[in-house]
Amino acid sequence: MTKIIGLICGSLRRDSYNRIIAQSLVEMDNSVEFRWIEIKDLPLFNEDLEMEGNPETVTTFKSSIQEVDGIIIVSPEYNSGIPGVLKNALDWASRPAKSSVLNRKPVGLIGATPGGLGTAFSQMQTRQILEAMQAHVLPFQKVLISQVHEKIDSNQNVLIDEKTKRYLQRYLQQFIDWIDHLPILENKS
Ligand SMILES: Cc1cc2nc3c(=O)[nH]c(=O)nc-3n(C[C@H](O)[C@H](O)[C@H](O)COP(=O)(O)O)c2cc1C
Repeated sequence: MTKIIGLICGSLRRDSYNRIIAQSLVEMDNSVEFRWIEIKDLPLFNEDLEMEGNPETVTTFKSSIQEVDGIIIVSPEYNSGIPGVLKNALDWASRPAKSSVLNRKPVGLIGATPGGLGTAFSQMQTRQILEAMQAHVLPFQKVLISQVHEKIDSNQNVLIDEKTKRYLQRYLQQFIDWIDHLPILENKS
């Protein structure tokens, strides 16, 4: 069966490097179906909204996560941490705590920055947050793309760096193989 991979971009910027990187995954492997899962229209998380019944954008967002076999989050780092918009989206997805759509969902992390540390801090925080919701985060392999502005053709908004493309291709393949080999664990908590 064709795997369905959801893509979440942690940047809302129109010409986001991270979105360009995520789009390069789509063009890399046509044995997989990719679906963009958008976070820009989610309201700020508020338990009152939840009590009143989730807004439609939240319901759609959660269903989109439920329908995919795995998710790859491609995100920048802001102030050595996870961007607020991404944290907000993950907080929505984490509810209700015992039956979150992210519970046992395979998740891969990729990040790109014009800086030198490749979003390492942001990814560490994102991993910790996802583990709190018992998502399965790919335990090995990191994709930390530094100096991303030199790896993109900014006129056409495409990834042109061949080494990065090969690395991403290997990562994607590993992520897909890993989904197949994840043990089905029962949640007894
Ligand atoms: C508020 C803010 C904080 C930032 N903090 C960091 C940071 O801690 N580390 C880093 O590598 N880049 C940082 N940057 C630079 C971003 O990596 C850069 O703006 C990048 O292009 C954002 O990703 P995008 O192109 O996908 O939108 C920051 C940018 C902003 C706007």
